[in-house]
Amino acid sequence: MSDAGHSTATSAPGVDTAAGSLRWLMAQLRIGRARAATISLCAIGATGGGVLATMLFGAVTNVIVDGTVGDGAVMDWKRLWTLLGIQLAVYLLAASLTYTQGQLLTRAVQRSVAMLRTRIEDKIHRLPLRYFEQTSRGALVSRLTAHTDNASTVIAPVLVTVPTNALTLVVVTAVLFVLSPVLALVALVAGPVSAALASYISRRSRPHQETRWTTTAALAGHIEETLSARRMLQGYNAEAVAARRFDALNERLFRSERSAQWTAGTLAPVLAAINAVVFLILAVLGGLMVVDGTLSLGAAQVAIIFAEQLTNAVRQLAGFVTKIQSGTVSASKVREVLEAPDDDAVQSRPEGGGFEYMGRHRNPPEIVFRDVSFAYSADAPVLKGVNLRLRPGTTTAIVGSTGAGKTTLTNLLQAFYRPTIGSITIDGEDVADLGAHRARTGMAVVTQEPWLFTGTVRENIAYGVAGDETAVARAVHDGHLDQIVAALPDGLDTVIGQESENLSAGEKQLVTVARAIAASPRILILDEATSSADPRTELLVQRALNRLRAGTTTLVVTHRMATAALADQIVVLEAGEIVEVGSHDELLAAGGVYARRCGVV
Ligand SMILES: Nc1ncnc2c1ncn2[C@@H]1O[C@H](COP(=O)(O)OP(=O)(O)OP(=O)(O)O)[C@@H](O)[C@H]1O
Ligand SMILES: [Mg+2]
Repeated sequence: MSDAGHSTATSAPGVDTAAGSLRWLMAQLRIGRARAATISLCAIGATGGGVLATMLFGAVTNVIVDGTVGDGAVMDWKRLWTLLGIQLAVYLLAASLTYTQGQLLTRAVQRSVAMLRTRIEDKIHRLPLRYFEQTSRGALVSRLTAHTDNASTVIAPVLVTVPTNALTLVVVTAVLFVLSPVLALVALVAGPVSAALASYISRRSRPHQETRWTTTAALAGHIEETLSARRMLQGYNAEAVAARRFDALNERLFRSERSAQWTAGTLAPVLAAINAVVFLILAVLGGLMVVDGTLSLGAAQVAIIFAEQLTNAVRQLAGFVTKIQSGTVSASKVREVLEAPDDDAVQSRPEGGGFEYMGRHRNPPEIVFRDVSFAYSADAPVLKGVNLRLRPGTTTAIVGSTGAGKTTLTNLLQAFYRPTIGSITIDGEDVADLGAHRARTGMAVVTQEPWLFTGTVRENIAYGVAGDETAVARAVHDGHLDQIVAALPDGLDTVIGQESENLSAGEKQLVTVARAIAASPRILILDEATSSADPRTELLVQRALNRLRAGTTTLVVTHRMATAALADQIVVLEAGEIVEVGSHDELLAAGGVYARRCGVV
C-alpha cells in the first residue's frame, strides 16, 4: 500500500522515501514496546469481538428461522437467549477494549510528540549558523509546530488501523470461504480493485503535499518578514509589492491544497460506488443460494455483512495511505532538521550560565590567528592568509573597506565557522578543539546590528549576569548610558525591545555595549558597536572600554580613525588580506593605506 517505490525517484539527500520516513518516525516514538503491544492487542481484541458478534448474529437468525419456518417448528428460547446474552457480552467487551486502546494511544502519542518537539528545540541550539542562513525562518517554525503535529497523525493509524484492518481482512476472508466460497470470491475481487485504485490516486498526491507544506512555510516566512519590515515597506510605498507576493503564495497554496484534497475527494466516492456494486451482486447471489437451499439465511446474512466489513477494511487502509502520504512528508521534514549535522564545535548544552563559569578573575588571553584563510563558498575566498597576534589585555582595531572581511574575522573567532586553512588559538588552545561553547565562554560580542529583546533596560544589560546590580550600575556608567537612562520614563525599568521605538539607533547600540561591559568578558569583540552614536559619545565609550582592558583582550572593528587611534595595534584589512599592522603613530609615519584614510598623506 505504501508508495515507497514511487518516491525513491524524487528522494534527495536528507529527503527520505515514504517508507523510510515512516520507519524513522516509528523509531522516534517513545511509546515503549509494552504499551504499544497493549494498544495493538486491545485493538485486535476489539476487532475479533466485532467479527465474533457478527457470526453470533447469523446464529441468532438461524435459531429464529428454525423456530418459525416449517411445520411443527418449535422456538428454542433457551438457545436464543443464550446466544443474545453472549452477543451482548462480546459487544460490551469489544467496546471497553476500544475505549482502553483509544485512551492509551492518545496519551502515548501526545507524549511522544511533546518529546519530539523538545528534541527539535534542543537541536536548534546545536545547528551551525550556516544552517540558518540556508533555511527560511518560516520553514523552521513550521517544522517545529505544524509538521511535528502532522507527522504524529500517522502514529495512530500505524498502531491501530493497520493491525486491526489486516486482521479483519484475514479473519473475514477465512470465514467467508467457509460459509460460501462463491460469495467470498466476489468480495475478494473487489478488494484488490479498490486497493489498486486507492494507491494510484494517492501516489499522485505526494508531490502536492510537498508543495503545500513548502508553500505554507514560505507564506509564514513572508508574513514574518512583512511584519518586521513594515516601516520599510510603508516608507517605500511597497505595500503593493508585498501584497502581490502574498497573493502569489496564497494562490499557490490554494492550488496545491486543492490538488492534495482532490485525492481524498475522489477516493471516497469511487470506493463507495465499487462497494455498492459488490453489495448488489452479493445480495442477489446470496438470495438465490438461500432459495436453492445451499445456504442458510443466517449464513447469507453474515456473508453479506462480512463482505461489507471486508470492503470497509480496504477503504480504511486506503484512507490510511492518504494520511500516510501527508504524514510522511512531514516526518521527513522533521527528520531533516534532527539529522542535520551539528555545529561540530558545539558539544552539548552548556551547563550553567556562560559567564559565571569562566570566572571573572581570569587573565585576559592571548589570541593568535595563524595563516587563516576562509571562504563561505568554495569559489570566493573572503580571508587569505591572515596572521595576527592579539596580546593579552590589549586592544586591536581592525579597519578596512566595506566587505573586506572584518565581520568574518570576528565570526571565526566566535567559532561560528572554521577556517578553511590555518588556525585560531586562544591562549594556545585551538578554537576548533575548544569547541564553540568553551571558546565563547568569557567572550562578549557587540555586533553591527544591536540586538535587544523585549524586557526592561536592566534585563537587557544584565543578560548573562542576572541579578548583579553593581555590574549593571558600572556598565551604565562606563557605557555612558547615565543620561539616556535618566531621560527614560521608568529609568532602568523602562521596557524596550527590538521593535520598540523609544530608543534611538545609537541608544540601542549603547545598551548592547553596556551589556558587554556588564559581562566583564575576557575577550571583547566590538563590530561597529558604536557607529550610530555621535563621534564624541563613541570616543567616550571607547575610552571607558580602554580603561577596562587590563582584564580584557579586545577586538574593535571600526570605520572611525579617532576610535582606531586609541587602540594598541591597528590592522588594515583589504580584500581579505592584512596590508598593514602597527600603532597609530607607526602607521601614520609609514604613509600607507591607513595614513591615506586618516587624510594625512
Ligand atoms: N554568511 C555569508 N555567506 C556568504 N558570504 C558572506 C557571508 N557573510 C559575508 N559574506 C561575504 O564575505 C565578504 C566579507 O564580509 P564581511 O561581513 O566580513 O565584511 P566586513 O568587512 O565586515 O564589511 P562591513 O564593513 O560592511 O561590515 C563579503 O564579500 C560578503 O559578501
Ligand atoms: Mg562587518
